[in-house]
Amino acid sequence: MRMLSALALAASLAVAPAFASAAQASDNVSNGGVPVAMPSASAKQRFIDDLIARMTLEEKIGQLRLISIGADMPQPKLIKEIAAGRVGGTFNSVTRSENRPLQDAAVKQSRLKIPIFFAYDIVHGHRTVFPISLGLASSWDMTVVKQAARVAAQEASADGLDATFAPMVDISRDPRWGRTSEGFGEDPYLVSQSARASVQGFQGTSPANPDSLMAFVKHFALYGAVEGGRDYNVVDMSPMRMYQDYLPPYRAGIDAGAGGVMIALNSVNGTPATSNKWLLRDLLRDEWGFKGVTVSDHGAIEELMRHGVAKDGREAAKLAIEAGVDMSMADQQYLKQLPDLVKSGDVPIRFIDDAVREVLGAKYDMGLFADPYRRIGNAPQDPKDVYADDRLHRDAARDIARKSIVLLENQHDALPLKKAGKVAVIGPLADSKLDMMGSWSAAGKPAQAVSLLQGVRDTLGDKGQVTYARGANITDDPRVVEYLNFLDWDNPEVVQDKRTPQQMIDEAVQVARNADTLIVAVGESRGMSHEASSRTSLMLPGSQLALLQALKATGKPLVVVLMNGRPLDLNWSKVNADAMLETWYAGTEGGHAIADVLFGDYNPSGKLPISFPRSIGQIPTYYNQLRIGRPFTPGKPANYTSQYFEEDSGPLYAFGYGLSYTTFDVSKVKLSAKTMTIGATVEASVTVRNTGKREGETVVQLYLQDVAASIVRPIKELKGFQKVSLKPGESRTVQFAIDERSLKFYNAKLQYVAEPGDFNVQIGLDSQNVQQATFTLK
Ligand code: BGC
Repeated sequence: MRMLSALALAASLAVAPAFASAAQASDNVSNGGVPVAMPSASAKQRFIDDLIARMTLEEKIGQLRLISIGADMPQPKLIKEIAAGRVGGTFNSVTRSENRPLQDAAVKQSRLKIPIFFAYDIVHGHRTVFPISLGLASSWDMTVVKQAARVAAQEASADGLDATFAPMVDISRDPRWGRTSEGFGEDPYLVSQSARASVQGFQGTSPANPDSLMAFVKHFALYGAVEGGRDYNVVDMSPMRMYQDYLPPYRAGIDAGAGGVMIALNSVNGTPATSNKWLLRDLLRDEWGFKGVTVSDHGAIEELMRHGVAKDGREAAKLAIEAGVDMSMADQQYLKQLPDLVKSGDVPIRFIDDAVREVLGAKYDMGLFADPYRRIGNAPQDPKDVYADDRLHRDAARDIARKSIVLLENQHDALPLKKAGKVAVIGPLADSKLDMMGSWSAAGKPAQAVSLLQGVRDTLGDKGQVTYARGANITDDPRVVEYLNFLDWDNPEVVQDKRTPQQMIDEAVQVARNADTLIVAVGESRGMSHEASSRTSLMLPGSQLALLQALKATGKPLVVVLMNGRPLDLNWSKVNADAMLETWYAGTEGGHAIADVLFGDYNPSGKLPISFPRSIGQIPTYYNQLRIGRPFTPGKPANYTSQYFEEDSGPLYAFGYGLSYTTFDVSKVKLSAKTMTIGATVEASVTVRNTGKREGETVVQLYLQDVAASIVRPIKELKGFQKVSLKPGESRTVQFAIDERSLKFYNAKLQYVAEPGDFNVQIGLDSQNVQQATFTLK
């Protein structure tokens, strides 16, 4: 239907519409809601070359503009700009009816009828919100990561969106950084696997499919390594660390076929990513062979002046286009400066043409030239109510959220709770739907989320009694409240209870005294783990710690439910809580999912994707640190070893750690051979047995240590993992194939090599408690 109307329209227009020409040029395009086979590369190239040949300089520069609806430009003005051929794509609109008039302006009014694309930050769900990425990674289950992205793509494409600025795959090893919440943790292997799964989920078999989104991997590159965890700060890093640890996830997303890359806001070794030719041309295009489109981050071209590498807007635009920034997000410098830069000969036109080629190529790959309305559809079919509950995927949300929860403590089997008796649900996050959504919750509607209180009520039903007290504000610090509510005072993120802290605690203690068990939800409001929300402390805010201490004094069993987007300092809770669950921000069905775990309808299986330090002074605590000459060795005198003398060494909770309601035993490691030759594999296996009383899942983790190499190598590195489900008493042999690739690393000359010598194979259920065997690479 759509194709026919597009072609009919084409016939009536003097200038051949770009989208109709594409449909003719494509070798194999079908339509009508079914997946579309990608046209051949040559057809695509012919089509784009032809289009570029017909474009004016102004139209070309227009294609390089990515505009935020509302924030940058009100809709009426935007429509005029699109009709004038001065916009390539927009972001931040979330319905078909919002997008349709914009696409109409492009394909019915602009001279060349080039469709625009619609993007949005769909990071962990669109209307149905899934756990934040750190939570998704905690599942250590790539089908989960992929499914969250797939559902998000289905929902967002049904709302007329074509692309997402996700996945965010920045490695974060400094929990002070607020955007830790948006990524998949600290480990190159786990984050790379998650990046791949996520891209596959968003794009499906092709970004052209009507139910797919094009993925923009971000933030290229190294954004997670900002100095001091302070957002937007500089990154200064050795090439070896870059190649070995921080770059692999971007590469994995690109190798999985991501059509786009968003460029980071930080500088890398002295050159902002946005003006970094080495990063955007030498590495991304030449070394990695990336064929898609690059976009700057919000306002980043203009920021080149503030980085102090451009003296004015003209220089900023020149640096960015020459470095390889195809599209400029939300700043005016391309529009203002490029026309004259080209006319004066300061920027050769080929830079513009190359960037336009990528933008048009991305639209082609999204299927927009074949049908600009492929995701917007026809008005009569628009959803009557975009928020209708039947548009949500609640079952998937609940299932995925359960799998993202990590059981940190369970003294004397305090959990699971019986579905009986009197349960007090307490804490500033206990009845918060907004915080349950986490940061970057896209088009998710907080009112549709299930709070913990609601989840507990629904699960207990009339089998028990649930009482509630807020107990504390998120924080009593007015400065923090002001910061968190800065963006929108009319819709504050944190609403302060007007009672005094003592009055709130008194009420909570009263409620606690009348209960059999206390479920206490504490942590951070979602805005505390967000872009620009760096912290100098990992402690629970004082108001919440005081609440926990008062509740502890009642002597009632204390179950701490954490909601947060970064590792916190959990020393007090570790000692004082009877049980502790890390639930991150669990999304739309969070309350139900957490209740499923609390009451044993689901046996937790999540594992930490990031180390939890004992204190902020211990950062960084990532597990795969490089080896040193004087390591601290447990059980040996601490003097003249690498440690902090006031505190125990090592993390409070290690990477890969997480308990279950059952217990598992891991056998010694068996190797298929003691030596390995290049090109061959060694099979490493362990037998895992469920030694407890209930069925459960756990994650078997493979780590390797290069015993002696030409450069200093990490203590250990994750190289594989498998999730297994076992009935009580059941055992299973879990096997990992170790090949040359698992042994490779970047040497001092940045060659990717495996060096002969011994390798320790370590297998366990977290990064610390492992069984070990050794083989030799000949
Ligand atoms: C963030 C990006 C995001 C963009 C568009 C920026 O502030 O750094 O991650 O995609 O805004 O919303």
